[in-house]
Amino acid sequence: MEDKRPFWTSKYSFIITTIGSAVGLGNIWRFPYIMGQYGGAIFLAVYILLISTICFVPLMNELYIGKLTKKECVGAYEAISPKFKYLGALNPITGVLIAAFYFIVGGWIINYICKSFTCNQITDYGKYFTEYIQNPIYPCILTILFLFICIFFTARGVKKGIEAANKVLMPLLAVILIFLVIVSLNLPNANQGLEYMFKPDFSKLNSKMILAALGQAFFTLSIGMGALLTYGSYIKEDKSLVKSVYTIILSDTIFALLAGIMIFPAVFSFSMEPNSGAGLVFVTLPKIFSQVPFGNFISFAFFILLFCAALTSGISIVEGPCATLTERFNISRTKACVILFCLISVFAIPATLSFGVLENFKIFNKSIFDFLDFLTSNIMLPLNTLFLCLISGWYLKLNGHDVIKNRVLALFFNIGLKYIVPVALICLMFMGLN
Ligand code: TRP
Repeated sequence: MEDKRPFWTSKYSFIITTIGSAVGLGNIWRFPYIMGQYGGAIFLAVYILLISTICFVPLMNELYIGKLTKKECVGAYEAISPKFKYLGALNPITGVLIAAFYFIVGGWIINYICKSFTCNQITDYGKYFTEYIQNPIYPCILTILFLFICIFFTARGVKKGIEAANKVLMPLLAVILIFLVIVSLNLPNANQGLEYMFKPDFSKLNSKMILAALGQAFFTLSIGMGALLTYGSYIKEDKSLVKSVYTIILSDTIFALLAGIMIFPAVFSFSMEPNSGAGLVFVTLPKIFSQVPFGNFISFAFFILLFCAALTSGISIVEGPCATLTERFNISRTKACVILFCLISVFAIPATLSFGVLENFKIFNKSIFDFLDFLTSNIMLPLNTLFLCLISGWYLKLNGHDVIKNRVLALFFNIGLKYIVPVALICLMFMGLN
C-alpha cells in the first residue's frame, strides 16, 4: 500500500493546494461578515496577531504529523499509538459533516452565477435570497451538483485532479479578486470602507471578539479535520516546513484582506450596513451590483471568484475522508468517492431542506444546517486540534528544536503545543457552547 501512495509533484504544488484549501468561503464570505459584526479594524488587528502566532503551532503540527507518518488520518494516529486510532477516525467524520453544510453554500453560489445576468429583474434581494433557500428543489440539486464537482476532481487523484484544479483555479482566483478590488476602490467614498477596516476602535476590544477571531483563524487555515494532515502526508522531500507554513498563513491573510478591501468600500459607498451578517455576500452585494455600471459582469466575476475559492477548499474537505477510505479499506479512489458522494448527500440534503420544508425539525433547538455548523465549527474542529496537539506535545513529545531551526520559534512551538493552544481551544469550545 505504502508504495502506491501519491506524492505532490513539487513543493510549489503542495503550497498552492494547501493555500487552495485555506482560501475559501472562510475568507471571502465569513471573514468580512464576522469582521463587520465585531467592529472592523480592531477585529482585524487581533486576527492578524493570532493567525501569525498561535495558529502557526497547530498548522505546523498537523502538516508535520502527516509528513512524518505518511498516512491518512486514522493510520497516522494509529502509527503514533494504536490506542489513538478512534480519535483519528473523528477527523474524516468531521470532514463528512463539514462537507454537508459547506457544499450547500457552494450550491447557492452556482445559483447566483447563473442569475448574474438576469438579476436586474430582482427588486428585493433579501426576499429573493430567503425564498430561494426555502425552495425544496433547486438548492438541493445545486448542492448535489457542487458536491459532484468536488468529488469529480478528488476522484481523478492527487496529481491529475487536486493539483491540476488548484494550479488553474488559484491564479484565476487571484486575478478576479484583484480586478474586483480595483473596481471597488474606484467607487465614490471608497475610503470610508478602508477607514472602517484599518482604523481601530479600541473600545470594541473584548474577550468574545478575541475568541471569535481565533475561531475564524483556525477555520480559515483548515485546521482540525485532517485535511492538512492528509495533504502533509503527500510531501516527499525532507525539507523544513516552517517556510511553507508561513507562506500559507501569509497568503491566506492576504486573500482575506483583499476580500475585505473588495467588500467594505462597496458597502460604504452605497451606504449599506457592514454588519448585516451571513447575508452580506448574498443580499447586500447583489444589491450593489445591480446599481453599478457593468453590474451583471461584475456580479458574474464575483460569484465565479467565490466558486473557485469554495471548490479548492471543498476538494480538500473531501480528500481527507477519501484517503481514509482508500487506504483503510484498500478500495479504489473511484469507489471511495462514490461512497462519499452518497454519504455526504445523506446529510447535505436534509440540511439544505432545513431552510424550507424541514424548518421545524430541530436538533437541540437548531435547524439541521445550524446544528451541523455548530457541531463541527464549535466542537469537533477544536476537539480534533486539541487531541492532536496533546498527542504530539505530551505523548509523542515532539520537540520543536528537531523540526524548526529558529530557536525562539522552536521554543514558542513547544510551549504552544503543550499549553497555549490547548488552553485557547478549551476556551473556544466553552465560548461555543454558551
Ligand atoms: N479553510 C476553508 C475556508 O476558509 C474551509 C475548509 C477547508 C476547512 N478545509 C477545511 C475548514 C478543514 C476546517 C477544516 O473556507
